[in-house]
Amino acid sequence: MAENGSVATHKPLGLLAELTHRCPLGCPYCSNPLALEKREDELDTATWARVFGEAAALGVLQCHLSGGEPAARRDLPEIVASAREAGLYTNLITSGVGVTTRTIRDLWEAGLDHVQISIQDSDAVSSDRIAGYRGAFARKCALAAEVKRLGLPLTVNLVIHRANIERIGAMVDLALSLQATRVEIAHVQYYGWALKNRAALMPTREQVARATTEVEALRQRHHGKIVIDAVVPDYHARYPKPCVGGWGRRSLNVTPSGKVLPCHAAESIPGLEFWNVRDHSLADIWIGSPAFNAFRGTDFLPEPCASCERREADFGGCRCQAFALTGDARATDPVCHLSPRHDLVTELAAVQTDEPYQYRR
Ligand code: SF4
Ligand code: FES
Repeated sequence: MAENGSVATHKPLGLLAELTHRCPLGCPYCSNPLALEKREDELDTATWARVFGEAAALGVLQCHLSGGEPAARRDLPEIVASAREAGLYTNLITSGVGVTTRTIRDLWEAGLDHVQISIQDSDAVSSDRIAGYRGAFARKCALAAEVKRLGLPLTVNLVIHRANIERIGAMVDLALSLQATRVEIAHVQYYGWALKNRAALMPTREQVARATTEVEALRQRHHGKIVIDAVVPDYHARYPKPCVGGWGRRSLNVTPSGKVLPCHAAESIPGLEFWNVRDHSLADIWIGSPAFNAFRGTDFLPEPCASCERREADFGGCRCQAFALTGDARATDPVCHLSPRHDLVTELAAVQTDEPYQYRR
């Protein structure tokens, strides 16, 4: 692809289509921004179809239909059909609430390829409490059964934090009983709503160590039956993750109103200019928009990243986290033990409270 200054512009592989911020659940770690976009500002069906075509032309292979709860959009079957028509692999990421038997059948007929259902806990009462919605657990399990009846592949998403970290084994058992072929275990990432609830969600170092060992044991026990993908918990890690595979390098996010972001939390960094699909083609945005070029590559990184041999592997970590913790989005992610501000992370990782959650509303 084209060169952008000194930085080669890679092809994006994935498009996260945030179809709406509307959602019946109120998870205290929701990755949506604190200021949710309104229904009347959402892109219409035809614009999404154009975006999918532009994404495919740009090299995107996978389209993740997300939200909020994507099923809050009545035109979801048409949206799925248009993504399929553009040649994209379509993955529905759903809370499972509000997706009726009829809806999932319509989506299947429209060509949906894969379903991911988030489940908050293996214990129904705890699961509903975390989601802030009574009866959600039962609906999720019912949808999973319907997904399998239609023969669609199912992934169960598990977000781990202090309230459920002791039940990872039971949650994987639940995913197996729902006939999922893959489970995605991700510890809470502290941006947006999760940042508000950080101390209430934060597990102890000992809990994280036990969980890491348990995930390894589960992988061996269930080898060949289910794939277990696990993301290392940030605040207890030695090195940071290569967030979104590198800023402006692998994926793009389109918000409900059409803003295109390099990552789902990019709006938490002040001063970035995001271009909108209503005004620009996706290719122009990918190559030329100020937000995508702000932290592309590694040239902007200060020491210790500038002279570190890992910088092309982790890109200095997460820009949103660097900003949230240090006030400087260019800084080394303080999760890295080599960061001069690593003390911030060790201090915060030691703070746990039993305060009630501030639910996303
Ligand atoms: Fe990664 Fe920077 Fe830490 Fe090196 S110093 S491991 S590049 S975050
Ligand atoms: Fe934005 Fe990591 S969440 S770069």
